[in-house]
Amino acid sequence: MKEWTRDERYRELTRDAEADLEQLHSEISRSRWRCDYHVQTVTGLMGDTNGFSWFNGRWHLFYQWFPYGPVHGLKHWYHVSGRDLIHWENEGVALIPQGYMENKGAFSGSGYAEGDTLYLPYTGNHRDEDWTRTPYQLLAKMDRDGHIVKQKEMLYGPVPGYTEHQRDPKLFKYNGMYYFLLGVQNEKKKGCFLLFTSEKIETGWKLLGELKVQGYEDFGFMCECPDLERVGDDWLLLFSPQGVAPKQEEFRNVYQNVYFIGKMDFENLTFIPNGPYKELDRGFDFYAAQCAGQTVYEHKAVMVAWFGVSDYAYPPTCEEGYSGLQTMARILSIENGELKQRPPLETEELIGETILDATEPCALDEMPAACIIDVDGNEPFAMRLFARSGEGGLLITWQDGRFTVERKDLDNQLNVDYGTDRFISMDCFAQARIFVDHSSVEIFINDGDYVLSARVFPVEEEKGFIYQGKGHAAVRKIIPSVKDDFVIFGK
Ligand code: FRU
Repeated sequence: MKEWTRDERYRELTRDAEADLEQLHSEISRSRWRCDYHVQTVTGLMGDTNGFSWFNGRWHLFYQWFPYGPVHGLKHWYHVSGRDLIHWENEGVALIPQGYMENKGAFSGSGYAEGDTLYLPYTGNHRDEDWTRTPYQLLAKMDRDGHIVKQKEMLYGPVPGYTEHQRDPKLFKYNGMYYFLLGVQNEKKKGCFLLFTSEKIETGWKLLGELKVQGYEDFGFMCECPDLERVGDDWLLLFSPQGVAPKQEEFRNVYQNVYFIGKMDFENLTFIPNGPYKELDRGFDFYAAQCAGQTVYEHKAVMVAWFGVSDYAYPPTCEEGYSGLQTMARILSIENGELKQRPPLETEELIGETILDATEPCALDEMPAACIIDVDGNEPFAMRLFARSGEGGLLITWQDGRFTVERKDLDNQLNVDYGTDRFISMDCFAQARIFVDHSSVEIFINDGDYVLSARVFPVEEEKGFIYQGKGHAAVRKIIPSVKDDFVIFGK
């Protein structure tokens, strides 16, 4: 891949670049790893989920975006919207970082709709000439016609007593007051959270202080993308800690994305968890998850994440000039004190022709690159997706109380320093639904108990499917729900 100079990385999006970007898009749209039902980058690099919300009768999702290539350069926000959680449409660039407070990027933030406005708080990443960083918490507003304006006044400046790492405001309302939660690093280089409050969204923000998590002091060196969600009578605290050590089968990615379930004590600025924090996803590629600001699902949350991790490389598509994907949306609920994550109901609409429906070992010479695979029955099984001549591929097994996904037999290897397998110890396996989309696999196990996600980049010869087991397996084609169209400055 080409070397990017700092000037190239920090080039802002301008209209005169449109033709070049269209050319880039037409090249990457021929990639075998473009998807049929996921939100994928229009060009360049896609990162975190931002501004996820329900507004004006549609879902809105933004993502961190560097337009010109597959590198972490000047971050913009790109906008997609959908009538449901699978039919996504490209809307174009939403935030171009401009001016002093965001001269080196419009970093992550959230979405909260009220009245005729979708409020989009985010972090302005300022760097001075000697590359010292100063973070500003900023606000953009979108109206019902999709016009976005940035408020000139910041919501909050850099907080003394913390390092330059202060970012990713998550805005919400509770008991008539507005709050935003920020991920920060303290001067001892530990990750923590700051909570702010105001009576109005645009002004009047006060720092309440650090949000403590009862019984916990160490979340590594930084907590990125925090999110505090009310789900029924409980609260969910989601965040992406950096610097948490692997523990047996858990926390094996370079950085993880975790959750606590518990109660919020606003008066004492304390989150009281009902148990240890756990990973939202037990697979390889999942980070910066965000729940939507939404009123569609009562007592539930709707979540999307970046289908990638900071500091990981995705060389197969990077060589083609792009990188990044968003995960499918998940519906979260808390049942008997446990988190359940299920695919949205509308994913049923993705289901097309059945190609295989078997209760004994079977194989396909060519599996559809986008499909839904169901397996059920507590019988041991081994399954290969994208197999080559009867072997290789992505190996998925259930055996001896372990559900395992193994990437090592695929041609394209990814981030192998962090291991090529992921496994979950479980008492019983009842069923899994596996969503496959050209370069992604998302496995929902036991009706929402676990989800395990993996990017895979099968080469042309890797196209077979093998099922060995005595349970039940079915493979169904997908009816595509996203268009890979080129939209930058409006449709
Ligand atoms: C997480 C993150 C955020 C930041 C953004 C910049 O991946 O580092 O903390 O706002 O990415 O792109």
